[in-house]
Amino acid sequence: MMKHLLTIDDLSPELVNFLIGQALSLKHRFITNATIPHYPQSSLVNLFYEPSTRTRMSFELAAKRLGMHVLNLHSHHSSAAKGESIHDTIYTIAAMDVNFLVIRHHQNGLPITIKDNLKNLAAHVTTHIINAGDGQNEHPSQALLDLMTITEKKPNINALKIVIIGDLRHSRVANSLQRLFKLLKIDNLVLVAPEAWQPQIVHHGSTTNSLTTGLMRADVVIVLRIQHERFLENEHCDLADYRKYYALTKANIHLAKPNALIMHPGPINRGLEIDDVIADSNQSVILEQVQNGVYMRMAILAFLTDQARN
Ligand code: CP
Repeated sequence: MMKHLLTIDDLSPELVNFLIGQALSLKHRFITNATIPHYPQSSLVNLFYEPSTRTRMSFELAAKRLGMHVLNLHSHHSSAAKGESIHDTIYTIAAMDVNFLVIRHHQNGLPITIKDNLKNLAAHVTTHIINAGDGQNEHPSQALLDLMTITEKKPNINALKIVIIGDLRHSRVANSLQRLFKLLKIDNLVLVAPEAWQPQIVHHGSTTNSLTTGLMRADVVIVLRIQHERFLENEHCDLADYRKYYALTKANIHLAKPNALIMHPGPINRGLEIDDVIADSNQSVILEQVQNGVYMRMAILAFLTDQARN
């Protein structure tokens, strides 16, 4: 039984397919004004210690569309300002019988530590922990909404060539995507990065520093954000060189299949890793990823709630 969503390793292929099916059904029901599940006694707290637009807002919208109560804790207004540790803040909120704690934090693995300690500290606490991005480790709900978006457009997922381009070394999204594609046996996966941003651990797929090799006949092109805020001293690339050799532009998009999907988890550095004309083209599904994020998060919240009740 899955109680938390901390990593893609918490999921089975059957559960991934179930969540995608539920998310697509919830999307259809919401858009056609059909009834959707309602959980008025459930509550969700967003705890974001790093900036976010998409993830924080879509968890809030997802919970509200399911009739849940939502609170957002702003770290600078919490007792953290009086020296309280993040662990004590989280255990305090969980002790209020909150159903969901959605946590984003710069520390790799923090949600897993919280989950383990919570079990030891307070056996009565039934809070579900959801990892909304932990450092450079994982962002599982982003990977799930990305796969939902691919499946919606190209259901033959195991026949697809997927390329992920850019700052793979610092990308929690790329880590979760690799684990998810491995789980579903989506094996034609190519990871493209300059030497300085090659992943330290490859979970799935082959790596190359050649954009041409990666893009050639690709069905899905996923461009990553350059995460300036995470670079160590020896990890900086010359951005002019990066643009020249790795940016997705009008000059190289023809290498991919003509109907290839263009994806980006956001936020986008326009004119750096991807050009406007590509990000805004009719091949781009970037805003559909954002739209699907709400429905995937609804599916995750509904699944965990139903499972805890049954
Ligand atoms: N993709 C993503 O996590 O975006 P935010 O940082 O805006 O949540």
